[in-house]
Amino acid sequence: MGLAPDKDWWRHAVVYQVYPRSFADSDGDGIGDLRGVTSRVDHLRRLGVDAVWLSPFYPSALADGGYDVDDHRAVDPRLGTLDDFDTMLATLHDAGIRVIVDIVPNHTSDRHEWFRAALAAGPGSPERDRYIFRDGLGPNGEQPPSDWQCMFGGPAWEPVGDGQWYLHLFAIEQPDLNWSNPEVREDFLKTLRFWADRGVDGFRVDVAHHLAKDLSGDPLPSAAELPLLHEVVDGTHPLGDREELTEIYADWREVFNAYSPPRAAVAEAWVAPTRRHRYAQPTGLGQAFNFDLLQASFDASEFREIVDRNLAATAETGSSNTWVLSNHDVVRHVTRYGLPDGGRDLGRGWLLSGGVTPDVDPVRGLRRARAATMLLLALPGSAYLYQGEELGLVEVAEIDDDARQDPTFFRSPGVDVGRDGCRVPLPWAAGAPSYGFGPGPASHLPQPEWWGELAVDRQDGVPGSTLELYRAALRLRRELQGAEELTWLDAEAGEAAAPGGTVLAFERPGGWVSVTNFGSAGVPLPAGEVLLSSSDLGDGVLPGETTVWLRR
Ligand code: NOJ
Repeated sequence: MGLAPDKDWWRHAVVYQVYPRSFADSDGDGIGDLRGVTSRVDHLRRLGVDAVWLSPFYPSALADGGYDVDDHRAVDPRLGTLDDFDTMLATLHDAGIRVIVDIVPNHTSDRHEWFRAALAAGPGSPERDRYIFRDGLGPNGEQPPSDWQCMFGGPAWEPVGDGQWYLHLFAIEQPDLNWSNPEVREDFLKTLRFWADRGVDGFRVDVAHHLAKDLSGDPLPSAAELPLLHEVVDGTHPLGDREELTEIYADWREVFNAYSPPRAAVAEAWVAPTRRHRYAQPTGLGQAFNFDLLQASFDASEFREIVDRNLAATAETGSSNTWVLSNHDVVRHVTRYGLPDGGRDLGRGWLLSGGVTPDVDPVRGLRRARAATMLLLALPGSAYLYQGEELGLVEVAEIDDDARQDPTFFRSPGVDVGRDGCRVPLPWAAGAPSYGFGPGPASHLPQPEWWGELAVDRQDGVPGSTLELYRAALRLRRELQGAEELTWLDAEAGEAAAPGGTVLAFERPGGWVSVTNFGSAGVPLPAGEVLLSSSDLGDGVLPGETTVWLRR
């Protein structure tokens, strides 16, 4: 099949996120690997995705699930080799699937050769200048330079024993790089070229808003004085979303545009929605994640407001939208929607608590998740799916403390169990050891006993299964996709579409209509040929918590 020539593929692509360590394990060590991905390309082809985004597969001590990178231009030996990468890439390309790799530019791991050199070289050295070292406070530097907290809980500064401390906005093992240092900038351009030369089609840029910082304050502002990042909209926050990023990403764009077709990029930027366009500019990364739906509860007016706001924003930048309901950092949307309040409280903040309350209703959660997914897939722009959502996977709560891996769990004991529950290795075959994740029983996170019920082989070819729903929806989406426009059909959806109502109905060019009933009671089914529905339809009725696609 191969790749269809299309330099704008990223504008409307369905991108499937592979979290490599939990996708498929070829050698039985319990850790998913690149050969595992290659062995499952047929699943991705049959699913009908346009691209795959691979979370980090670089050498790493896994202090933060691989986002602690030892070497940005190599493959972790447990996950394979560069040859395995090339084979995987070629196999995906042959299947017509593009590949996006994750770039982690805000920090390295503490095992990176630069960081080791920085520790060895001592204060004031060029080696330390690649990171953010500061003298500690107090007579012997025994106190941190400020009282800032890192994202995973606990202090953001770590002492190195000679009166200096280094900044880590994330785990202790993830020292922040100094993006004012030209060597750091040059090295990342080299990394981008390294993967682009191998043939990758795009990049997902980890915490793209954090690279530039201003730590010139003396003393540094206290945590209480630091405003929340998404509340500062003029580019002056000391720790992120700063104006200097424009210049950094313009350099990246020059690299991307030297390839044919130009390489694509998508920014992970947790900034105020009004600032997102800065990352999505064609002279910068080109596209930025919109996590608004991922943070919304299952509610018609919230969804409507988010869709309107984001369509208006992309109309201004000329970029395209990115719709997301789940990823490796958040509680899976089946579980969020199974909460009594539809996930209203869980969805705030970027690291969501993985704590799952006993009153989750998984049946209702799945019904709503299927409806929300069909709505999302009918929107103009690109859609990002997270591995396993095509199986209707839920967040796994049954992980013993001694099996947990996420730094969030270790840094906030008893408060936040972290993100392991959405990273449990996938079930491929109900009756096999490790449910077909690998050839043997090993699985780096424990799989619950009921995992097999959701396995691929239990759903393959089964009408109405979540897997078949995703396959059908992606097939139709490809067929029906037209211009990036949307018209709300308020009148036709009747009273239920009025402000505060329960129905969202819209039409895409070419007569593709999507209607979602967020309420629990049925509403009249609008006219048109039924193409697909997320739950069974009644006679002339669109049941509660259901999306239908119609053609007319
Ligand atoms: C965002 C990633 O998605 C998350 O998994 C990671 O912990 C942080 N960035 C730090 O790299």
